[in-house]
Amino acid sequence: DWKMQDVLEEEIRTINSMVGPNDHVICALSGGVDSTVAATLVHKAIGDRLHCVFVDNGLLRYKERERVMSTFESDLHLPVTCIDASEQFLTNLKGVKDPETKRKIIGREFIAVFDEFAQGLESKLGKRPEYLVQGTLYPDVIESCPPPGSGRSHSHTIKSHHNVGGLPKDMKLKLIEPLKLLFKDEVRKLGSILNVPESFLKRHPFPGPGLAVRVLGDVTEGNALETLRQVDEIFVQGIKDAGLYDKIWQAFAVFLPVQSVGVQGDQRTHSHVVALRAITSEDGMTADWYYFEHKFLVNVVSKICNNVRGVNRVCLDITSKPPATVEWE
Ligand code: XMP
Repeated sequence: DWKMQDVLEEEIRTINSMVGPNDHVICALSGGVDSTVAATLVHKAIGDRLHCVFVDNGLLRYKERERVMSTFESDLHLPVTCIDASEQFLTNLKGVKDPETKRKIIGREFIAVFDEFAQGLESKLGKRPEYLVQGTLYPDVIESCPPPGSGRSHSHTIKSHHNVGGLPKDMKLKLIEPLKLLFKDEVRKLGSILNVPESFLKRHPFPGPGLAVRVLGDVTEGNALETLRQVDEIFVQGIKDAGLYDKIWQAFAVFLPVQSVGVQGDQRTHSHVVALRAITSEDGMTADWYYFEHKFLVNVVSKICNNVRGVNRVCLDITSKPPATVEWE
């Protein structure tokens, strides 16, 4: 793609003229497409004066940390520090049921962990890093400042979306936003030129607060997170095996704080209920539920009930957005 090749070269020139030869750059990787492509691009321009951090907040999906770290290290050779802060996040989330409070706590803890990483880096380098890379896209720019009269609604007023973009403003870091003029499909093309694996570029979006908005209520209760990871993995892997992954915008499981009566063998059970949600969408602002074949659903549900301890009932969410939102919280 010659156009994206041009964009790439232009961006590398811009970064090199901006970042001095002794300057250092910091970047928080979320495991998503945007921050990964942005970091890979900056790394190509300035090499190991880029310092990335990936935070395990204890709210990641099944084997997520291992999977993204392997892409960062083996495929992209990015300099990444992985910080396991799961205990810190989960301790702070204990007993918290309100979705917006959960988002706030996660945002706050993320900043605390990032701050500590930046300070550690400062003492290692003997100077502060000057720049921060962010994977801001063009639609994010428009959405946070919609042109007057555009009629564009502002989804942030419905949910205070936390993602790794939400970093402290008082850190005095100058911003590098190499994707600021691009749309998502262009970022994917750019990523492909930068050798980001195709499977990674096609990943479904994943919310910044992670599984915290998919375990309804207190995320630390019982075995909820681990149970949700297993259910989610069976569902998403089933979708991949059926060749449906690229037709779906997002697919995930939700853990409900509800128990129902069931029967297994000749034993009465009183176990948890989970919901499955798969949607198609253009931009996440509106969405339709995805229509699965009967056979696919039968298979997935029996796999879940036979393999995941503590789950005896599976529901399918067939609500579009609006009136529902994509996530349940
Ligand atoms: P909703 O639930 O608002 O979701 O219809 C629209 C899209 O945004 C994602 N989402 C989030 N992303 N931080 C994020 O980075 C959040 O707090 C958050 N909440 C929802 C959701 O997964 C969907 O793609």
